[in-house]
Amino acid sequence: MMARVWAVVPAAGRGTRFGGDLPKQYLVVDGAPLIAHALTALFAHDAVEGAVVPVSENDPDWPGWTEFAGKAVQSCIGGATRAASVLAGLQALPGSVRADDFVLVHDAARPNLSLTDLSHLMERGRNDPVGAILAAPVRDTLKRAGDDGGIDATEPRERLWRAFTPQLFRRMQLTRALESALADGVEVTDEAMAMERLGLRPLLVEGSESNFKITTPADLARFAFELAQRSR
Ligand code: CTP
Ligand code: MG
Repeated sequence: MMARVWAVVPAAGRGTRFGGDLPKQYLVVDGAPLIAHALTALFAHDAVEGAVVPVSENDPDWPGWTEFAGKAVQSCIGGATRAASVLAGLQALPGSVRADDFVLVHDAARPNLSLTDLSHLMERGRNDPVGAILAAPVRDTLKRAGDDGGIDATEPRERLWRAFTPQLFRRMQLTRALESALADGVEVTDEAMAMERLGLRPLLVEGSESNFKITTPADLARFAFELAQRSR
């Protein structure tokens, strides 16, 4: 049997690029907020035991769940950056999660994760000494822009990947890596980057492009569309 894992689901962002008053993780699609879609996707895996959700202080929109789909949910106060929120989530994990247990980190704003991708990540990541992330190879040709908006160069896209979540790392190692980045004033935009700074090499696990993050209103429309397709 697979060892159980907990998830940290950062939801303390304000959604500045999306705009509007309601932070994007609480926008409702098909009767449920995005964070509910994200939790449903994670909890679909039998080995996922519960989730800690870092939210903003006095967040009026957090539904206050203590369980969801029959699994445990706990909230904690997030931080000023995504990395600080994830660190707060790691610290709020129950004591039953040991230092070398794997923990999943998954964006609340990434509602379209498939069980197939999650299963691959769990299988491959747990056989890696460091851990793993879901990602997809870059398909477009990459241009480097000059100050005037003209193209300075075409960058080789070979071996370039787009990092998604979930990302799977050991509780204590990830905690140390995020603490080190924060202490050094380096803003890491995902967990893997924090691990890489310590010389560790997480595994890339190829996942579906459908596991996109909701950043702009166009992304929300795409998610509504993909969800409708799924249930046809
Ligand atoms: N997040 C967080 N704490 C922060 C910033 C972000 O928990 N201080 C979370 C967001 O709620 C989201 C995830 O991290 O679920 C991914 O971040 P992003 O897409 O950048 O969301 P926002 O920071 O809310 O959006 P924006 O950058 O446009 O303001
Ligand atoms: Mg952000």
